[in-house]
Amino acid sequence: MSKLIAANWKQNGSSLEVDNLTREIIKGAKKLKNLNNMILIPPSVYLERVSKLIKKSNVSKRISLGVQNISPYKNGAYTGEISADMCKDFDCKYFIVGHSERRETFNEDSVMISKKVLNVFNTSQKIILCIGETLNQREKKQARKVIANQIKSGLSLLTPKMRRTASKIIIAYEPIWAIGTGKTPSLQDIFLMHKHIIEISAKIFITNRSIPKILYGGSVNSENSNEILSIQGVDGALVGGASLNAKKFIDICRSI
Ligand code: PGA
Repeated sequence: MSKLIAANWKQNGSSLEVDNLTREIIKGAKKLKNLNNMILIPPSVYLERVSKLIKKSNVSKRISLGVQNISPYKNGAYTGEISADMCKDFDCKYFIVGHSERRETFNEDSVMISKKVLNVFNTSQKIILCIGETLNQREKKQARKVIANQIKSGLSLLTPKMRRTASKIIIAYEPIWAIGTGKTPSLQDIFLMHKHIIEISAKIFITNRSIPKILYGGSVNSENSNEILSIQGVDGALVGGASLNAKKFIDICRSI
């Protein structure tokens, strides 16, 4: 089955660097022999240029565009925010919601995250809902509970009708202690947590014939990607640091 590999470039790069990185990734994508698909998620000011480069390439079917953050409101007097509709102009198909860096550094709480999820749900785009436990929570054996709570609260504003459309949501399991640290959970721990997420999602999404896709994120690199993407229940990866290097990112996309 094809995997979904998302490149979260965070607050990195200049227009020149972003152009070069996008061009190199497009070049690499043309040579990929598997069916894996990619999402490029640049800083928002560069969405338009990345969108143009993807559109004029002949791999636009396998590369989509995503946005790192989104307003919880449709439009109006919200200084500094951008809406899902504005991003539609650049053909953005995915929005990251609830990344741990937003939760921790910008104090986004579960109420804010649930509003963002609801806001995107009303558009034609998809949500990548990030969840993950801290090291302290893992050591205290609270990780499963924390993850369950983050999923339930993130999706709490969805109506019963919305909860029939699991395909709108992608869940990214990103243990906070694994992000940017070079540390990853054991393969067994990733398997068990994804299984847990599948079970919780199946209860929320009324039709359990379809549940959200689940990505793993946190220090995914070209050395560990094959093993991680082979784990049952892992539908893809959310990649930060390694996605800033086209060769490394393409090597990850080349996995399995
Ligand atoms: P990392 O970041 O790959 O650098 O650990 C992942 C993320 O924050 O999405």
